[in-house]
Amino acid sequence: MDHFDYRDGVMHAEDVPLSRIAEAVGTPVYVYSTATIERHVRVFREAVAEAGTGEPLIAFAVKANPNLAVLATLARAGLGADVVSGGELLRARAAGVPADRIVFSGVGKTADEMALALREGIGQFNLESEPEAEMLSAVAVSMGVRAPVAFRVNPNVDAGTHAKISTGKSEDKFGIAYDGAVAAYARARDLAGLHIRGVAVHIGSQLTDLAPSRAAFAKIGDLIGALRASGHDIATADLGGGLGVPYDPALPTPPLPAAYGAMVREVTAGWGVRLIFEPGRVIVGNAGILLTSVIRVKPGVTNPFVVVDAAMNDLLRPSLYDAWHDIRAVVPRGDRFTAHIVGPICESGDTFARNRGMDRVEPGDAVCFMTAGAYGATMASTYNSRALTPEVLVNGREWSIVRARQPIEALIAADSLPSWLPANPDRSAMEIA
Ligand code: LLP
Repeated sequence: MDHFDYRDGVMHAEDVPLSRIAEAVGTPVYVYSTATIERHVRVFREAVAEAGTGEPLIAFAVKANPNLAVLATLARAGLGADVVSGGELLRARAAGVPADRIVFSGVGKTADEMALALREGIGQFNLESEPEAEMLSAVAVSMGVRAPVAFRVNPNVDAGTHAKISTGKSEDKFGIAYDGAVAAYARARDLAGLHIRGVAVHIGSQLTDLAPSRAAFAKIGDLIGALRASGHDIATADLGGGLGVPYDPALPTPPLPAAYGAMVREVTAGWGVRLIFEPGRVIVGNAGILLTSVIRVKPGVTNPFVVVDAAMNDLLRPSLYDAWHDIRAVVPRGDRFTAHIVGPICESGDTFARNRGMDRVEPGDAVCFMTAGAYGATMASTYNSRALTPEVLVNGREWSIVRARQPIEALIAADSLPSWLPANPDRSAMEIA
């Protein structure tokens, strides 16, 4: 459920008409709804509340939406953070996430990032390999501390999602091999800079069936037993993120958090660990939309092309994963047509939808791509020298620009000319800026 609804024929974000935001900020612009974010936190928290021992840690996967205002909204709601870089760690801290609620995932943590995380005093490192464990131990020893760790274990389970976002098969780059896990834990016990706390798993994203997660978690339960039998004190189990959200209304709705929570309760009963969750998409996915405007409608051989001012650099998911985003007019004219929706970028991959039945639109009309709150703005680039998309956060009747539109002059001025190339005497990048 989200808080983007039509009122008097105009799509609103909570109490704010999107047409007002489009006029004031210009398009394209991402718009997020505080009430939707808070609702999803509540629903997810209730779903997993009874699972594991004590209160579970819900560590929001920052990669899904790292905007500081979104993170601060989540921090205020009591969430922790799952980070995968020093940058995400600093963002989470800047947004007010307590260090002990931060989990650090990722296959390529550098020694500098490890040192930063140890200085901050984060709650847990999820290690993805033994060489990484050795590096972290060395960094911790040099700082005179011990790093709280879990190994991310690759359960070799097919998550049944898009290949580019599937992470739990043995051929994927993630985690240590399930079959070698007990031996890896035994070797890690001898590393002086580590304090082994638990196990971690994450098999993929946009999961629309609970069976693969259930199978992976069951294997983790067996592993916890084997590790305890070898004398390890296993206090936490991090079950990752991955729960899908509805994108295409014609497809069956993915399992709701309540069904996911019931499955987790069932599988993890008797584990005697504190559970950690790393949800991203399910918290912010349908709490955001990308608001864009129709530049022109170009006749096509079959259907017309609706050329909008957002492009694949602003919302990469359709181009990269053939992802579906529902497309709605902010002020529907009352009839519909079939069209291709494309951006202005010079490659055919810059296509949001083909042969899509949608509200009929004309040049100047505002349109929104729904369910763009996760992996939207965060995956944007400046391809074709297009400025990064601004972001707006709505809260009831209030709204605020939470990332300003980047002036194109600033983008150009970030480059510099080497001494052997003369600047244009009439107009250097620095002068434009
Ligand atoms: N934990 C780990 C270790 C992850 O790698 C991810 C996502 C999550 C948690 C959060 O997963 P979620 O609950 O959001 O499914 N850009 C892609 C999604 C990439 C997901 C990467 N990892 C997309 O737009 O669909």
